[in-house]
Amino acid sequence: MKLHKTLFATAALVAGMTLHAQSSSNLVIQTNKLGAKIQPTMYGLFFEDINYGADGGLYAELIKNRSFEFPQNLMGWKTFGNVTLMNDGPFENNPHYVRLGNAGHQHKHTGLENEGFFGIGVKAGEEYRFSVWARGKGEKIGIELVDNNTMNEGQAFVNKKIDIDSNEWKQYEVVFTAPVTDPKAHLRIFLESAGTVDLEHISLFPVDTWNGHKNGLRKDLAQALYEINPGVFRFPGGCIVEGTDLESRYDWKKSVGPVENRPLNENRWHYTFKHRFFPDYFQTYGLGFYEYFLLSEELGAAPLPILSCGLSCQFQNTDSAAHVAVCELDSYIQDAIDLIEFANGDVNTTWGKVRAEMGHPAPFNLKYVGIGNEQWGPEYPEHLAPFITALRKAHPEIEIIGSSGPDSEGKQFDYLWPEMKNLKVDLVDEHFYRPESWFLSQGNRYDNYDRKGPKVFAGEYACHGKGKKYNHFNAALLEAAFMTGLERNADIVHMATYAPLFAHVEGWQWRPDMIWFDNLNSVRTCSYYVQQLYSHNKGSHVVPLTMNKKAVAGQEGQNGLFASSVWDEASNSYIVKVVNTSDQAQPLQLTFAGLKKNVKLGNGACILYQAQNPDADNTIENPNAIVPQESAIAIDGNVLDTTLAPNTFAIYKFQKLTN
Ligand code: AHR
Repeated sequence: MKLHKTLFATAALVAGMTLHAQSSSNLVIQTNKLGAKIQPTMYGLFFEDINYGADGGLYAELIKNRSFEFPQNLMGWKTFGNVTLMNDGPFENNPHYVRLGNAGHQHKHTGLENEGFFGIGVKAGEEYRFSVWARGKGEKIGIELVDNNTMNEGQAFVNKKIDIDSNEWKQYEVVFTAPVTDPKAHLRIFLESAGTVDLEHISLFPVDTWNGHKNGLRKDLAQALYEINPGVFRFPGGCIVEGTDLESRYDWKKSVGPVENRPLNENRWHYTFKHRFFPDYFQTYGLGFYEYFLLSEELGAAPLPILSCGLSCQFQNTDSAAHVAVCELDSYIQDAIDLIEFANGDVNTTWGKVRAEMGHPAPFNLKYVGIGNEQWGPEYPEHLAPFITALRKAHPEIEIIGSSGPDSEGKQFDYLWPEMKNLKVDLVDEHFYRPESWFLSQGNRYDNYDRKGPKVFAGEYACHGKGKKYNHFNAALLEAAFMTGLERNADIVHMATYAPLFAHVEGWQWRPDMIWFDNLNSVRTCSYYVQQLYSHNKGSHVVPLTMNKKAVAGQEGQNGLFASSVWDEASNSYIVKVVNTSDQAQPLQLTFAGLKKNVKLGNGACILYQAQNPDADNTIENPNAIVPQESAIAIDGNVLDTTLAPNTFAIYKFQKLTN
């Protein structure tokens, strides 16, 4: 993690602000009472193709509707001259392609132009790989990147030619370097010869992708994920798992194998909100289950796929006919069993072989499967039950995740938790998109949860600000406060993932989001930094602590202070997190109680995450406006006296030194 180190001591960071005469809050960290183990999966990521998160985002393809399979087959394309749409192409699941014929006069042109996703972003000096499937022996095509500024006379800034040398379908490639930076270029293809040429799967990727995978993931976005150091990666949704109807649910089997033959699916976020309507938003499945597993592996995160339980989106479907009848779930259950084979099976098994042929003979070490996203009502346990029976029998090693529905509390939530216990799921996925007041009041949410039932997966959560405030510092601060409660209850909370992950500034449907991006840049929000700070400082064991001799409850009444503490085996350190949600500076005393006589604390560090203006945020223009600051800190024996600035998330770390 890149922390902005300062040479100042903590005291200097609060200098200049008015210190109110307030008695010190005493946090006592009970070092001799090591608590629960913190799971490696504790802090992770949730990815869904919403807000152009996959196509147009993490999946680095720059061409929209590359296979001409959108319902309006030429959406995203402009054609000129003699272009015909054909539908008997070489890829069974994507049969459409275009035929370019002579325009009839030597001065007329035939060709087509793609607008990309809100334009095609290219950077000067970077290499790009154009590829196309084509046929038409002896013909020639020209490829141009053009400036989309109609006021500009010298429009084309890249110009390449490809000779087509076969009448059979064949893939052609050309790599070029962009001479200029342009966030909104278009790709133009001309027929440069007199005959006829057929084109299919027209693609353009940066050469420099995450981990160098050819035609892979956008590097800055994947790198941001990597730098969180996530313990778990939940995919591919979210509501897109369910689909608006069963036909549009995410079907993982369609998302593997050669990309050219992965069929298009609609993306429900294209029309879910009429006021954020994006008729050109579809799923190519270019980022499919193989890529999700590979990304999880490369992020060092446990993969956590979520599968359809046979219930299409219940928000949009009240009629039971929209769902699969329980007695007809066999193929859905088989999909779940086959997925485990795809991820973990031997290369000689049907699905293990598919994985191996895609380039990964070693298993992906899948340990968790979620069945259903935000389902509710009696239909959900009824649908889930047969999955559990079959999965326990076929794969007792796999942990199963059920859901407590879309609400953070209330009737449906209270109904589903006991149902999940009865079904003996391993974890329950809770979702809470809630206002600031909720986050302030839920620091003790898990303190009294039943320790004998399933564990908790806080699978989607984000603090929603009042008014038009999204991703502002205060929301992140309250998330940090709430997360102290996750951490103190790490015996029962085994996973937590903020949501949603990505949003294109021109194409969002939902906010707040953790990382925003445009065609060239990205910005890590304040919520990103909070997640990163927790993940990098998660420790290995909970250490109990008290505040002013009472259990830390994370409530108003404790001066707006929230806290948790952990022991970190790897660095031999105690790590204390304190969040001051009040607008007052607060004197604070940290006492590390119960240290043995031969133990001293040293090598102290303090990370402060704070903003002068709690309504401020990081933006594409100013991405580093609010970033954590780390400084060295000294401790006097086992007691640290300090003052915590208003609206601040602080992490104090001290190494345990033994004589
Ligand atoms: O994260 C956006 C949506 O919020 C998810 O698709 C869904 O699970 C939740 O309602």
